[in-house]
Amino acid sequence: MLRLATLTALLLTASASGAEDAPINACVDCHGDLLEEAEADVHRAAGFSCVDCHGGDPTAEDQEEAMSPARGYVGVPSGMGAAEMCGRCHSDIERMRVINPRLPTDQLAQYRTSEHGKRAVKGDEKVATCSSCHGAHGVRPVGDPASPAAPTRIVETCTGCHNQEYMEGRSIPTDQLQKYEQSVHGHRRLQEQDLSAPACNDCHGNHGAAPPGVSAVTHVCGSCHATQAELFEGSTHASHFRDLEAPPCTTCHNHHEILATSDEMLGIGERGVCSACHSPGDQCDEATKAMRAGLTRLSSSIEQARAALSSAARVGMDVEQPTFDLAGAEDALVRSRAEIHGFSEERLEAIFTEGGGIADDVEKAAQARLDEYEYRRKGLAVAATMLLLFAGLLALRAHRLEKSRDREDV
Ligand code: HEC
Ligand code: HEC
Ligand code: HEC
Ligand code: HEC
Ligand code: HEC
Ligand code: HEC
Ligand code: HEC
Ligand code: HEC
Ligand code: HEC
Repeated sequence: MLRLATLTALLLTASASGAEDAPINACVDCHGDLLEEAEADVHRAAGFSCVDCHGGDPTAEDQEEAMSPARGYVGVPSGMGAAEMCGRCHSDIERMRVINPRLPTDQLAQYRTSEHGKRAVKGDEKVATCSSCHGAHGVRPVGDPASPAAPTRIVETCTGCHNQEYMEGRSIPTDQLQKYEQSVHGHRRLQEQDLSAPACNDCHGNHGAAPPGVSAVTHVCGSCHATQAELFEGSTHASHFRDLEAPPCTTCHNHHEILATSDEMLGIGERGVCSACHSPGDQCDEATKAMRAGLTRLSSSIEQARAALSSAARVGMDVEQPTFDLAGAEDALVRSRAEIHGFSEERLEAIFTEGGGIADDVEKAAQARLDEYEYRRKGLAVAATMLLLFAGLLALRAHRLEKSRDREDV
């Protein structure tokens, strides 16, 4: 029975490396149960075996000899030792370059800077190490959907530990998943499978996981929301926020529970986000009133133009050009909502004026088409009445002719 297992194992080892004279690996004599798991392993495919991670003597058939520290056996290290086991190769630039030059070699260096790494050094055994996110014996390329680090699985992997049960007895919040699920990002990512919305690692980094410091938030959010980040950094608020040590984006939007935005967020009302620092009647209050009035004005100009366009279209007028032009006003509205992050009334006003102008022109163009239609309709009515009148006269005349002929016959 044992012999058969050994034979199968040896065959598997040989076929994996593709060589007739595969190096002896007696470890699998006793650990054959791990072979199935290791089948899809990138390391196995690259020709590595047990001892490349665990050390020991692969030619010894005796357990004590095979797994003897004297023969380099390190076993299963914990904490930072576990990360170093993987990092021994992964931070060795020369070694990695030979096998896969495209792979970055900064994982261990990054990991050391992460909250996980800092705690691992101090002996915290529950933090993530390399194998928590990649596996140990079935390590797959990160693009493989079956890898726990794959874009489609990483949220599940992080929250496999970042939950109440696993974090029992620690003071760290454990509501990340609940909040993330309710956020615009989580909804897009988890419900709509839209990978352009960030998962945990897009904001925290793959290997440097730590809460982004106040100064890093703009970069984190700005990697996707570049316009808002640029405007905010160029605004007076950037320095106001720095002075107050308030993080740039998350102070107004939250971090895990980022909700869809609306004009109501502007101000100090119930859904307003400015009240954290402003109060009724101050500069902000005045400014947001003007901003919201501008937004309302532009939105309703666009609405009116749209209504006029659809009336004109309904009666069959060609509205292709003005419909195309209206997109300019809609774009101005979108831009103005981003421009809010510059907190400049002047620049906002300029966009409102530009967009409002376009919307008004479109409404005029639509109205002109409706007028033309009315004019044509009236012209047609006159012509039709005249035709009817003419036909009536003809009929009358024919009738009279008939009558006079009848009289002649008598
Ligand atoms: C003769 C059988 C035998 C051979 C050969 C053998 N092992 Fe083991 N190994 C065992 C047994 C049994 C255990 C579990 C009990 C123990 O920890 O002593 C084990 C445990 C382990 C563990 C887990 C240790 C831990 O701390 O949980 C590792 C890792 C390991 N072996 C690696 C290897 C490697 C690598 C080789 C080859 C160099 C090897 N073994 C060869 C029998 C063997
Ligand atoms: C890429 C590095 C790597 C390779 C190659 C590797 N291991 Fe492991 N092994 C690990 C890590 C990391 C752990 C700890 C896993 C954990 O804590 O979840 C581990 C755990 C183990 C354990 C403890 C029980 C278990 O399954 O967790 C045994 C036994 C073991 N390895 C044996 C082997 C044998 C035999 C081979 C060769 C067939 C092998 N390992 C190849 C990294 C590796
Ligand atoms: C907290 C989870 C986590 C930990 C811990 C972790 N990784 Fe990763 N790793 C990831 C994610 C996520 C990716 C990227 C997936 C992607 O690109 O979509 C990744 C990518 C990689 C890659 C592919 C190349 C690259 O850098 O993008 C390698 C190699 C790698 N990790 C090795 C390691 C090593 C070695 C360690 C330990 C020093 C480690 N990882 C620790 C989550 C983790
Ligand atoms: C003996 C050196 C060595 C050790 C030890 C090692 N690796 Fe690797 N690893 C490699 C090499 C080389 C590759 C590239 C293989 C290839 O592309 O063919 C690789 C590939 C990977 C990949 C796939 C990257 C990708 O997306 O293509 C991941 C993930 C990974 N290793 C994680 C780990 C983890 C986790 C450990 C520790 C448990 C570990 N490695 C230990 C050498 C090593
Ligand atoms: C193996 C379990 C495990 C996995 C997997 C894991 N973590 Fe952690 N993480 C921890 C533990 C434990 C801590 C330390 C908690 C404490 O005591 O403050 C921690 C700390 C953190 C911190 C620092 C929090 C703070 O305020 O100090 C961040 C950020 C973090 N993890 C993000 C992530 C992300 C993102 C992922 C996935 C890519 C992930 N973690 C995967 C266990 C894990
Ligand atoms: C949109 C970016 C973003 C995403 C997505 C994200 N985080 Fe965070 N996370 C942050 C920011 C920013 C902080 C720092 C908050 C602070 O300190 O004010 C943070 C803080 C944390 C902390 C520290 C404790 C806390 O809750 O404040 C942990 C742990 C954490 N995140 C884990 C996760 C996990 C797990 C996921 C995935 C479910 C995730 N994060 C998704 C941006 C993000
Ligand atoms: C002082 C509060 C505040 C700060 C700081 C802030 N925002 Fe906003 N943000 C808002 C308000 C208010 C809205 C809603 C505007 C509207 O719809 O009228 C908004 C809207 C948004 C929108 C969606 C609307 C759009 O098209 O622009 C995104 C995306 C956004 N913010 C990202 C960011 C990012 C990234 C940062 C950091 C660089 C940031 N915000 C900083 C208040 C803020
Ligand atoms: C990996 C890219 C990415 C990162 C990083 C990112 N976001 Fe997003 N965000 C998106 C996508 C995609 C959407 C959904 C599409 C949209 O509305 O733009 C979105 C939506 C939003 C919305 C809702 C916009 C609306 O119209 O209602 C806000 C607000 C927002 N993000 C703020 C932030 C903040 C604050 C951060 C940093 C803590 C951040 N995002 C980090 C990609 C990202
Ligand atoms: C984190 C605190 C904070 C938040 C939140 C905040 N502000 Fe301010 N804001 C300030 C500070 C500090 C000043 C400097 C003047 C003062 O002390 O009132 C300021 C000044 C202003 C000014 C005057 C011009 C200037 O830049 O000095 C306007 C307008 C303004 N804020 C609008 C807003 C709006 C609109 C919001 C919400 C969308 C908002 N603020 C949210 C801190 C904040």
